Amino acid sequence: MRKISFINMKGGVGKTTLSTNVAHCLATRENKKVLVVDIDPQFNATQCFFSGDKYFNYLKAKGKTILDLFIEGPINISTVDGVTETKNFEYSDITPVEILENLFVLPGNLNLYQIEISAGSGKENRLKRYLDVINKIYHFDYVIIDTPPTPSIWMVSALLASDYYIIPVKPDPLSYTGIDLLQNIISRKKKDLDLSIKCIGIVLTIVEEATIVFNKCQETIGKKKQLKDLLYKKYLKKRTDIAKFQLNQQFILDQPKDDVKLCLTGIVQEMIKRIDDDEAKQ
Ligand SMILES: Nc1ncnc2c1ncn2[C@@H]1O[C@H](COP(=O)(O)OP(=O)(O)OP(=O)(O)O)[C@@H](O)[C@H]1O
Ligand SMILES: [Mg+2]
Repeated sequence: MRKISFINMKGGVGKTTLSTNVAHCLATRENKKVLVVDIDPQFNATQCFFSGDKYFNYLKAKGKTILDLFIEGPINISTVDGVTETKNFEYSDITPVEILENLFVLPGNLNLYQIEISAGSGKENRLKRYLDVINKIYHFDYVIIDTPPTPSIWMVSALLASDYYIIPVKPDPLSYTGIDLLQNIISRKKKDLDLSIKCIGIVLTIVEEATIVFNKCQETIGKKKQLKDLLYKKYLKKRTDIAKFQLNQQFILDQPKDDVKLCLTGIVQEMIKRIDDDEAKQ
């Protein structure tokens, strides 16, 4: 099971669009068994998989969401690492939804905004523990985690649960100049939390080719070796249809435009190769 978070603390850079389409491509083209975890309270990834009616009926039928992982419970237990955790459920009760063959989703929930969790309560470890338990039942090849744009307990949970992270970057100056800051924040978290998560690349999204800003972005990243080595060869072009059909639960591979499909499959193949290479080094 390879667990990958899509992270950027800048909003609207294409995290959700890229992560949901990568997950869909892994399941439908690469024949991998994939779980998408939507840990963003905005639950946009969930909206890419569920129509409004379907999601409403799912909640009405008491379907499980990410919220079930974090809500309070009556029994206090102590774990080996000394963290006290409350428990009123079995992780295995939180069943993900099968959207398509090989593609499962643990839906998000707007009510994540309502609950308050203090750092150090141990709850930030729950996603990690959940994935270990659920994987014994489902045997996923990939877990794709869509994260919120703000530093929060949800972001920390994703970092704790992941082996790798990808940084989707929109080629505008405010986005690409923030990559260093993001890398610094994550490396500080890695030290504080003793994490082994690795960056598996930077993917440019919402790209308008042959524009000054895009050229400048490639030039700026190209000048910094540590960023240049992380930059994927393929990028996701800006196409109105991607956004237009997103909330009809349509993915890039469902649409007729071959050039964008090639961008996506190229990104997915590069991601798999980078992880294969990293695992081979270990
Ligand atoms: N390749 C693309 N072409 C056209 N529109 C896109 C593309 N990628 C994303 N968008 C649109 O840009 C907007 C932001 O994308 P998205 O929601 O994926 O970003 P995000 O980083 O997840 O945002 P947030 O930080 O709020 O979670 C959305 O309206 C989405 O439909
Ligand atoms: Mg998003």
